[in-house]
Amino acid sequence: MFNALVLNKDDDDKVTSSIKQLQESDLPEGDVTVDVSYSTLNYKDGLVVNGLGGLVRNYPHVPGIDFSGTVRESSHKDYKTGDKVILTGWRVGEVHWGGYSQRARVNGDWLVRLPDEINEKQAMAIGTAGFTAMLAIMAIQDQGILPDAGEVLVTGASGGVGSVACALLSNGGYQVTASSGRCGDEYLASLGVENCIPRDELTEWNGRPLNKERWAAVIDSVGGSTLSNVLSQLKYGGAAAAIGLAGGNKLDTTVIPFLLRGVKLLGIDSVMCPPGTRRTAWQRLCAELPKSQLDKMTTTVKLSEVASQGSEIIKGQVRGRMVVDVNG
Ligand SMILES: NC(=O)c1ccc[n+]([C@@H]2O[C@H](COP(=O)([O-])OP(=O)(O)OC[C@H]3O[C@@H](n4cnc5c(N)ncnc54)[C@H](OP(=O)(O)O)[C@@H]3O)[C@@H](O)[C@H]2O)c1
Repeated sequence: MFNALVLNKDDDDKVTSSIKQLQESDLPEGDVTVDVSYSTLNYKDGLVVNGLGGLVRNYPHVPGIDFSGTVRESSHKDYKTGDKVILTGWRVGEVHWGGYSQRARVNGDWLVRLPDEINEKQAMAIGTAGFTAMLAIMAIQDQGILPDAGEVLVTGASGGVGSVACALLSNGGYQVTASSGRCGDEYLASLGVENCIPRDELTEWNGRPLNKERWAAVIDSVGGSTLSNVLSQLKYGGAAAAIGLAGGNKLDTTVIPFLLRGVKLLGIDSVMCPPGTRRTAWQRLCAELPKSQLDKMTTTVKLSEVASQGSEIIKGQVRGRMVVDVNG
């Protein structure tokens, strides 16, 4: 028997959660069974545990979009009992059984081997959010945007994606400006942020297709009018990496910044990201994200705290990264 957080939908379409004792026969099909050590709480998990966003098709459902753990049993050619693994994406925790469980069974092709440089807890302190921040930085660097190009703006800077992006960029020599509802926090400065603009300054778009050129690049996890605004403020040849929708999923803009300033809008998807890119991103995270900064941005909760914290993250009240100790 093992414990898992299980979501159910009642007759009024209300989603409720409880911790249940399950058994091996409850696990889905798959060629690798994993003893899960840690999962994390991401914005998407907040949506899922609150029954928002239409991400889950079938109930009962075990949420948790990522996990780290040890292979218990495997018929996959690349994995054997005892191997340490990480999983992010592939719609695990949405349409497939997720990481808020002491055991999971998945398609082995979805796994990444835990790099030697980090332990299972550090892997989940990085988690989906940190992995996605790295993908965004790789995307802007693929455009040739290096530290000498100028200031980089990170929106939703004290969230999970934002925190890791700030730390990676500042350690990589970029001048980082945050857009945040928590500019007064010492926290952002501890991640290497040099300037902070209150998030409200970007949430109203003045409708002008071009505003003063400011940013060499933007890492955006907010979307909506924040993204409309920053597109009009990108420097000539700049790029915005669109990651998230914490502030809205509508994008009101014009083609003018693309035509007159040659700016680029780069879509970032971590869920179906190909295996080769995943391995590169994890290698770079191990090499470029200082463990001391990772510790500063991480808090740990138990499985029993996920439901309440899931509501907090949707309200923008969770700072940094939240690791879920499924055995705690
Ligand atoms: N594309 C992908 O593959 C991918 C992967 C991971 C995450 N995401 C998306 O990226 C976004 C961030 O994820 P996360 O896990 O980092 O979430 P998070 O920890 O909740 O961070 C989001 C941050 O955005 C800011 N924010 C919240 N509500 C806002 C609002 N109404 N208007 C403006 N800013 C707001 C807050 O930062 P401040 O307090 O600093 O303002 C908050 O901490 C989510 O939309 C998530 O779904 C996408």
